[in-house]
Amino acid sequence: MKRILTGDRPTGPLHLGHYVGSLENRVRLQHEYDTFIVIADVQTLSTNFDHPEHLPEDVRHVALDNLSVGLDPDRVNIFLQSMVPQIAELTVFFSMFITVNRLRHNPTIKTEAKQHGFEENMTYGFLGYPVSQAADILFCRADVVPVGEDQLPVVEVSRFIARRFNELYERVFPEPEGLEGEIPRLVGLDGKTKMSKSLGNCIYLSDKSEDIRKKLMSAVTDPARIHKDDPGHPEICTIFSYHKAFNSIESKDIEERCRAGTIGCVGCKKRMFEVLEALLEPVRERRIRFEKPGMVKEILLSGTEAARIEGGKTVDLVRKAMHINYFD
Ligand code: TRP
Ligand code: SF4
Repeated sequence: MKRILTGDRPTGPLHLGHYVGSLENRVRLQHEYDTFIVIADVQTLSTNFDHPEHLPEDVRHVALDNLSVGLDPDRVNIFLQSMVPQIAELTVFFSMFITVNRLRHNPTIKTEAKQHGFEENMTYGFLGYPVSQAADILFCRADVVPVGEDQLPVVEVSRFIARRFNELYERVFPEPEGLEGEIPRLVGLDGKTKMSKSLGNCIYLSDKSEDIRKKLMSAVTDPARIHKDDPGHPEICTIFSYHKAFNSIESKDIEERCRAGTIGCVGCKKRMFEVLEALLEPVRERRIRFEKPGMVKEILLSGTEAARIEGGKTVDLVRKAMHINYFD
């Protein structure tokens, strides 16, 4: 069976952008692929090293988000990055043959450095997070990596590392392929390019019905639509982009009615609310099941154990290929 590896930084709850970017693919492909999901707690420290105190709560939240969208813990291994020592070990080996320049010019690193304001003064760990992410992906010799568009340049680093390792030593790794969601990026509620926690423009998977209704109702639509029958421009409207993402069957019809001025924004938002409720109600029900005391812990411990076993196999191959298996 081919293998998937993907995952999330535990920096807070996951939102609809994560859902269309990667979670939807994880759920859909879990039956066809042997699946590993990393909760990248060490990677979170690349920006949050000075306030680690939220990690326990955020780890639990991200695990619950993954489980409640429908990943089956009997099938999928959800594990903690910091508890798989082979990932740290591979990170060190890989860092020997990737150049600082390649990392500095990585588009994702550049964008994120700007966001966090450390273009001038970047830590070694932040600059190197794509190397550690390559270790997340390659420790289980993954073939496919479902991610949002913004992460593709980071997956590119993993491909480079796999290729380079195979050339330098021995063929150990497949070249992992990034897999984007059908909707490459989801616009935030404020109409800004991307739904993102730091921009505060998100609908979270764990939001209550009432919060979602309020968020949709206060979202900005086409400013040309002052009266209910003013002709609209759906292509510039956030709500319409959500219809395309979550309500593709009706979106053509909504587009036409918006242009003709035969649907009002309030009605259009109400319909969107119903669509999101239909998506999120089963998510809420599953969450309640997984919230039972001890359950998340048990799932993470067993996923981590499976990851360590796989990591052990890969590190044996790597040490042999690099001639550092002295006493085997
Ligand atoms: N960098 C990813 C993000 O910020 C999270 C992540 C960590 C990841 N390790 C990974 C994604 C490995 C895919 C594969 O969303
Ligand atoms: Fe947007 Fe719908 Fe209003 Fe058109 S009718 S502007 S798509 S909310």
